[in-house]
Amino acid sequence: MTETTLDAHYPMNLKLGGRNIELQMMSAQDRDAIIAFVRSLPATDLLFLLVDLTQQAAIDEWIEQLEAGYSTAIVGYANRRLLGYASVHREPQAHWTRRVGEIRVNIASDCRGIGLGKALVGHIFELANSMSLRKLVAHMTVDQPGARVSFERFGFVQEALLTNYVEDRQGNPHDLIIMSCDVEQTG
Ligand SMILES: CC(C)(COP(=O)(O)OP(=O)(O)OC[C@H]1O[C@@H](n2cnc3c(N)ncnc32)[C@H](O)[C@@H]1OP(=O)(O)O)[C@@H](O)C(=O)NCCC(=O)NCCS
Repeated sequence: MTETTLDAHYPMNLKLGGRNIELQMMSAQDRDAIIAFVRSLPATDLLFLLVDLTQQAAIDEWIEQLEAGYSTAIVGYANRRLLGYASVHREPQAHWTRRVGEIRVNIASDCRGIGLGKALVGHIFELANSMSLRKLVAHMTVDQPGARVSFERFGFVQEALLTNYVEDRQGNPHDLIIMSCDVEQTG
């Protein structure tokens, strides 16, 4: 299945935790909702991104990457509120690692544990497959409760622990974990 075919699958509805959730491909139209969403998250849930998404410039850069095809993201809405997103970022110009994508997932604190992360990750794997990616990597700090366990459930294994790699706004260092998972080629 090609990326264009998958594109045609959205918007798509699913029911999780009693909520009717609409999944959409992220575009520039989601800019304000994404800004409001990331600003509602605890600071520890943003450190793994390595860019500060609470800054509008960082969101604008992300939207440029979406439009250039270097990033693809799925967002989930219920009653016009953005509940979470999952994205895959790639560097096609980086020849030797062009088949590796970085997955990023963030779910609203009050919507965790209802299966939204798992559903979004499943969609990202389909997109990754359509892009002929072979491997997805995920970054997270050790302070993110449940992130490592969730990613193990998604099929990822820990590849590296980088000590004191990330520094928060107060100047405190945090360890970063890198996990990875092979993308099953079905196309
Ligand atoms: C990690 C995260 C994406 C998981 O999303 P989620 O929607 O809460 O996860 P799901 O409800 O789909 O659960 C997925 C699996 O992980 C398990 N899980 C979820 N949270 C857990 C927790 N805190 N402790 C233990 N297990 C947990 C679930 O039981 C489920 O297991 P199953 O598939 O065997 O049923 C979410 O917690 C989050 O956004 N965290 C902050 C951002 C982050 O750390 N991102 C990771 C870096 S990319």
